[in-house]
Amino acid sequence: SRGCKLLGCGSGVPSLQISNDDLAKWVDTNDEWISARTGIRNRRVIAGKDSLIGLAAEAARGALQMAQVDPDDVDLILMCTSTPEDLFGSASQIQKALGCKRHPLSYDITAACSGFLLGLVSAACHIRGGGFSNVLVIGADAISRYVDWSDRSSCILFGDGAGAVLLQACDVEEDGLFGFDLHSDGDGRRHLNAGIKEKEMDQKLGSNVSLIGFPPKNVTYSCLQMNGKEVFRFAVRTVPQSIEAALQKSRLSSSNIDWLLLHQANQRIIDAVATRLEFPSERVISNVANYGNTSAASIPLALDEAVRSGRVEAGHLIAASGFGAGLTWASAIIRW
Ligand code: ACO
Repeated sequence: SRGCKLLGCGSGVPSLQISNDDLAKWVDTNDEWISARTGIRNRRVIAGKDSLIGLAAEAARGALQMAQVDPDDVDLILMCTSTPEDLFGSASQIQKALGCKRHPLSYDITAACSGFLLGLVSAACHIRGGGFSNVLVIGADAISRYVDWSDRSSCILFGDGAGAVLLQACDVEEDGLFGFDLHSDGDGRRHLNAGIKEKEMDQKLGSNVSLIGFPPKNVTYSCLQMNGKEVFRFAVRTVPQSIEAALQKSRLSSSNIDWLLLHQANQRIIDAVATRLEFPSERVISNVANYGNTSAASIPLALDEAVRSGRVEAGHLIAASGFGAGLTWASAIIRW
């Protein structure tokens, strides 16, 4: 049987930076409140010439370069996003941007902040059982496009960005993905969602609308709605259990793990989970202060920073966990 290893990572972030002081200019908040409750100081937001596809392609190029893999040798691209720039999917646009000539299969995975790890596990299954050899897994989101910028309880949390890894087939002894634990709970959707809402079309159709026999309507998406306290509770309760389950399936304990890498939602969530798992703070990866919550991008974005700064080294074991809308949560033990 085949294994799969992580060979490269990359990231792409928008150039526009918005600080807590900037936010305080249009909502009733301040740097002290945001820093103390979330650990977030800055976030990047897509504007001007930046696009989600552009950032995702930049992240993918970084991963391919580090892995020394040619775009033409990629046979699968998984784009993990809940905010695609095309409702029908955006992965094929990344394939085009990278100029992959062999027309690799590419498709989107929608699972909010758990998206990247679900993509990673899916990629591993494609490699182990499906004959694929070089898979790009990209986490990219532009939550800023769905945030209610007048709601101070949620707009302070989010930022945009993209991160990517290249996963390659290898001998089973070199396998880079160990145990994983994946879940969802549709009941929890009430705590975190951005559902559809109807948009009237009558005006455009004029008086002919009565001839159609039903009220023609399109839909658009509502802004993100969140019960912060409930999401906080869910994360702190569920993530340690899920990581324990992934460790157990890997026949490892937290003392074997070099790094804890959680979805970067809030420094207080990261700290609470680390405390429950008895992880010392110097073994916890965090860059939430600079980017806020970038949804599916947050784990590969933080991984890329940690790898390029030399903190994460070849052979290190990482306990990773994503959690968020759905609700969904996903944990995996990874070897870099
Ligand atoms: N600035 C100043 N005051 C504020 C702000 C703000 N930005 N936002 C809320 N407040 C006020 C509230 O109005 C409230 O005032 P009141 O006591 O007079 O009513 C007070 O601060 C306390 O508000 P709480 O909501 O109780 O604050 P809490 O300590 O719960 O922190 C927070 C809120 C930061 C949102 C926290 O609940 C949290 O981080 N939850 C997790 C959210 C999360 O991670 N979501 C995304 C995960 S999934 C995904 O990524 C899609």
